[in-house]
Amino acid sequence: MKQSDRTSQLRPSPIRAISEGAPPGAVPMGLGEPGWALPEPACLALAQQQGPCAYGPNTGLPELKEAVAAFHGAKASQVMLGCGSQGVLYALFQAWLDPGDAVLVPDPGFLAYPALAHMAGAEPVSYALAPDFTLDPVRFRAALDRTPSAKVAVVNHPGNPTGAGTSAQALSEVAQACAARGILLLSDEVYRELCLGERGPSLRDVSDTGLVLGSVSKAWGAPGLRVGWAIGDPAWLAPARLVHAYMVTAPARPAQLAAMALLEASPAVLAEARTHLRVRWEAFAGAFALAFGPSPRRTAGGFYHWQPLPRTALADPMAFCVRLRDQGGVVVVPGMAFGEGGRGHIRLSYAGEPDQIREGVRRLAPFWNEA
Ligand SMILES: Cc1ncc(COP(=O)(O)O)c(C=O)c1O
Repeated sequence: MKQSDRTSQLRPSPIRAISEGAPPGAVPMGLGEPGWALPEPACLALAQQQGPCAYGPNTGLPELKEAVAAFHGAKASQVMLGCGSQGVLYALFQAWLDPGDAVLVPDPGFLAYPALAHMAGAEPVSYALAPDFTLDPVRFRAALDRTPSAKVAVVNHPGNPTGAGTSAQALSEVAQACAARGILLLSDEVYRELCLGERGPSLRDVSDTGLVLGSVSKAWGAPGLRVGWAIGDPAWLAPARLVHAYMVTAPARPAQLAAMALLEASPAVLAEARTHLRVRWEAFAGAFALAFGPSPRRTAGGFYHWQPLPRTALADPMAFCVRLRDQGGVVVVPGMAFGEGGRGHIRLSYAGEPDQIREGVRRLAPFWNEA
């Protein structure tokens, strides 16, 4: 029997594929997840659970919706909960896209966006970022103008894989362009709280259109809980809530209770996360300056460094990354996994243990210095 057309273009994530083939002792700088322990409020909430482990409401626990709403200065009715922000994104795409529709996605950008568009039968259409990988409203509008079939657009700031952010002005212009066309703008802000300098703008600061995506996976240190959300006009959320309810009923109850404990303890949990991030950034930046020469530039947020490839690796970036893994003993992600715009870079994650980060950078440097 023939596999569905919608799913036949799907391939395993190159991030997982390159990580899974790693030799023993390889330093993991591939995966984008916090390497620090689950914060205590979540551990306590998980340990304290007793009585029936009920399904709970299909739209998630009202107390968790309240906690997310309070964090964002929104109403509980404006919150959709899901199994990670990716579960929310899947449901939104299913709810709002038909075959023949297009989704504007950043290039380079998080690799789930195009895959989820295909799964909804839609076409991902990439838009270029500025040369420094920040959001560029001129390039965004040009892509929008070229794509009459666009129904949804995604922006991501700070971005995966580059860590680059956006100005409030650029975000506002993009929001206006989407509102003028009547299309749904999704502002993926899962890395927004994970910053060392000033926190970047939210779509909610500059517009009352579109939806903001958030998650406990990054700054709240809990990717394995699989709890994320979208915030915005309930009219956009309603059909996606139904999709999500048929898909999985609701996020796992223990995870929702743990996420609630994290949200309620946000000031302490986020301050601690920034300390974890600072320690890792300092380990990375120190080792990088020593091994590569110039200090790396700090990004708007997240835990990624976007490293240009040496000239000699440009012809076959994948082969170079496999060499880094198998001969150098460091797992990294080829930038081309994130779109054509990433072809000349690799993504290094410094979310792991500081000693490992230092060792990883030390092992990588000879591959640049030989070039
Ligand atoms: C930009 C971006 N958005 C969304 C996600 C999905 O996160 P989650 O489903 O864990 O909330 C990720 C995960 O790496 C990401 O990098």
